Amino acid sequence: MLRLILLLLLTPLPAEFCNPDDKSALLAVKNSFPNADNIFSSWTDDFHCCDWYGIECDETTNNVISLAILRTDKIIGTIPPAISKLKHLQTLYLFKLPNLVGEIPQEMGEMVTLRSVDISWTNVSGPVPRFLSKLTNLLDLDLSFNRLSGSIPPYLATLPRLRILDLSRNQLVGPIPDSFGQFASKNQEFSALHLSHNKLSGELPPSLKNMNITSVDLSRNNLSGDGSVLFGDTKVNYALVISRNMFEFDFPRVRFPKMLETLDVSHNRIYGSIPAQITAAERLQRLNLTYNRLCGKIPTQWNLVLRVENFDNTSYFHNRCLCGVPLDPCK
Ligand SMILES: *[C@@H]1O[C@H](CO)[C@@H](O)[C@H](O)[C@H]1NC(C)=O
Ligand SMILES: *[C@@H]1O[C@H](CO)[C@@H](O)[C@H](O)[C@H]1NC(C)=O
Ligand SMILES: *[C@@H]1O[C@H](CO)[C@@H](O)[C@H](O)[C@H]1NC(C)=O
Ligand SMILES: *[C@@H]1O[C@H](CO)[C@@H](O)[C@H](O)[C@H]1NC(C)=O
Ligand SMILES: *[C@@H]1O[C@H](CO)[C@@H](O)[C@H](O)[C@H]1NC(C)=O
Repeated sequence: MLRLILLLLLTPLPAEFCNPDDKSALLAVKNSFPNADNIFSSWTDDFHCCDWYGIECDETTNNVISLAILRTDKIIGTIPPAISKLKHLQTLYLFKLPNLVGEIPQEMGEMVTLRSVDISWTNVSGPVPRFLSKLTNLLDLDLSFNRLSGSIPPYLATLPRLRILDLSRNQLVGPIPDSFGQFASKNQEFSALHLSHNKLSGELPPSLKNMNITSVDLSRNNLSGDGSVLFGDTKVNYALVISRNMFEFDFPRVRFPKMLETLDVSHNRIYGSIPAQITAAERLQRLNLTYNRLCGKIPTQWNLVLRVENFDNTSYFHNRCLCGVPLDPCK
């Protein structure tokens, strides 16, 4: 009993739990969204700020390391520059906020402690800021499903620890920067590049042949050139999705990664026959070669480990002259 009373007496008051600078930064964030009382109802002096909804603190320092504001249309306005006063923030999660608008503020370039940034499913617009390349601790950057425009800053490829870059579902234009080939040589951890559903154009930089990552999605752009550089039999790809572009290359030159589970190259201008080596990708579950200019006999020696059936005609139709099972017999 005495121990319990002592413990209670020794327990610090809530106010002492919370880094005061972080608390005032959070209050400035709260004050910039006056319509969002319901989101911030716990953000009062009744609780110390580490217990506020959406906040996570470091257990030893009580610094705020994570801020998440999710799924509400009551957040109306721009990302408050005061967010950059959170000097220890590692995770920023602004997700499904349809009324979050305007540009990503310049001040975010100072937030060098950030490891994970997810600003997705919002109406944030303007460019993908070049200053993001100053956030050298970033591991994950997800800016998908926004209204970002302009071109992809080449400097993103200098981020030394980046693992995942997702800029899909924006309005980005211009080419994939040549520097993106460096992600491979400089950063062994880089594993996913998702740029689908933009308006990217131009030739795929040949430097991307160095890219050896688990997931690539470039679908629904207007990219052209030699998409074969993305393939290679010693690469670690699980997913390669380049559908609905203008890629034009000789399919027989392609060597398929053994790990491949998803391959979608539909709606391009790929020509030649399907190389028999494709059957080395024995973990393949999804295959889409439709709407290309392929010709010749479809390989049949599949030994698929993750699929019970071979691929049906919906993997192959609308090509120049593919033949054999599951399409019409070759003449
Ligand atoms: C952006 O705003 C429009 C119009 O208010 C809305 O229909 C759309 O859902 C918003 N986008 C996102 C990703 O929330
Ligand atoms: C796509 O790129 C080609 C050039 O490679 C261009 O002729 C065409 O207009 C572009 N289409 C769109 C929809 O931007
Ligand atoms: C890709 O990475 C794997 C595993 O790290 C390695 O074994 C392979 O040689 C690499 N392939 C290429 C083409 O870089
Ligand atoms: C695909 O095969 C199904 C039967 O398995 C057939 O009904 C259909 O017409 C075929 N479609 C094409 C485009 O060959
Ligand atoms: C391949 O893509 C085409 C066109 O988008 C689609 O109609 C077809 O169902 C897809 N097939 C598979 C196996 O995903």
